[in-house]
Amino acid sequence: MQTTTTTEQTSGPNVAQRRVFSGVQPTGDPQLGNYLGAFKGWVDRQDEKENFFCVVDMHAITVDHDPAELVRQTRELAAVLFACGINPEKSTLFVQSQVSAHAEACWILNCFTPLGWLERMTQFKDKSAGRGSVSTGLLDYPVLMAGDILLYSAHEVPVGDDQKQHVELARDIAQRFNNIFGDIFVVPEPVIQEVGARVMGLNDPVAKMSKSYSHIRGHAVRILDDPKEIQRSIMRAVTDSGNEIRFSNDPEKAGVNNLLEIYRVITGKSEGDVETDFTDARGYGDLKKRVAEAVIEELAPIRNRYNELIDDITELDRLLAVGADHARSISEPKLEEMKRAVGFALPDRTRSSTR
Ligand code: TYM
Repeated sequence: MQTTTTTEQTSGPNVAQRRVFSGVQPTGDPQLGNYLGAFKGWVDRQDEKENFFCVVDMHAITVDHDPAELVRQTRELAAVLFACGINPEKSTLFVQSQVSAHAEACWILNCFTPLGWLERMTQFKDKSAGRGSVSTGLLDYPVLMAGDILLYSAHEVPVGDDQKQHVELARDIAQRFNNIFGDIFVVPEPVIQEVGARVMGLNDPVAKMSKSYSHIRGHAVRILDDPKEIQRSIMRAVTDSGNEIRFSNDPEKAGVNNLLEIYRVITGKSEGDVETDFTDARGYGDLKKRVAEAVIEELAPIRNRYNELIDDITELDRLLAVGADHARSISEPKLEEMKRAVGFALPDRTRSSTR
């Protein structure tokens, strides 16, 4: 049996247990894509690894925002995550701004990240397109994200398809830093589910379902929607003029494919079994009705648990404070290692304090 000391487990790249880190921004209403592409997998696999999940409020201020809304949405999102099944006994859930190591790590990593790497990021190009002026924070967003991951020596970063490029950048930054200063960071891997990694908009099945558009009628199913709203959004989903219910890469059939994918992640069935489930369906109306039923059944208990959790803000804040304490106990030693590596004159803990 392999044995390691506590220090070996928490600092340096030799972390004994496989660590998982992932994050979500408290902007807009969390939607089915977040749930199927990320949260569900985090919950289903939380017994296997040591997990850190973070509500990344510092990322949320890289674009225009309302401070009062941010406070509300941060707590709401944390409650949604607990309601989805993140268990504080098994996983650490915390708010990014409560752990100052994230901002400090970002600064250090900034100084070793070539500007060109950031200018190439697709999300930066998309979010800055058409805007007269954008914040430096928006450009720097992926470095803050790299710091999130690297501070926890995470091996695995479970994300939806849209975040893959950012995780790959975190790998590049880790490798560059390690090349200069020695083995400081674990080089993380993006973990992307085979199914559900890219849930598409119901109103526009060639564009990703997004929190930022979840206020637009018919675009998304929001995790906290009531059954009637879920039913309404799915029944209104864009499909095609045909009647064939099968998985397909044909852009014409993207709407039907998206509905089948949603059903597939929720039921955990194979493509073949999903298609068999619909052989007796009479047209797309039937397909939508059954997909809506599956989504409602999946989300209703989450909504109920959420309502209980959000009723007790004191307890929610307490859970998040416990999460932040634990996050600090892991990230602070790593930050110190980074500081020493780049040459910051920190007090030498090995020297006697008598003089
Ligand atoms: P965010 O808040 O946009 O999304 C949270 C998670 O949900 C996934 N996701 C989707 N998956 C499938 N289909 C969709 N339509 C869909 N929409 C969103 C995202 O891929 C993500 O996994 N930058 C990150 C937050 C972040 C982070 C981190 C993630 C900050 N630091 C460190 C991992 C590790 C973001 O904005 O995710």
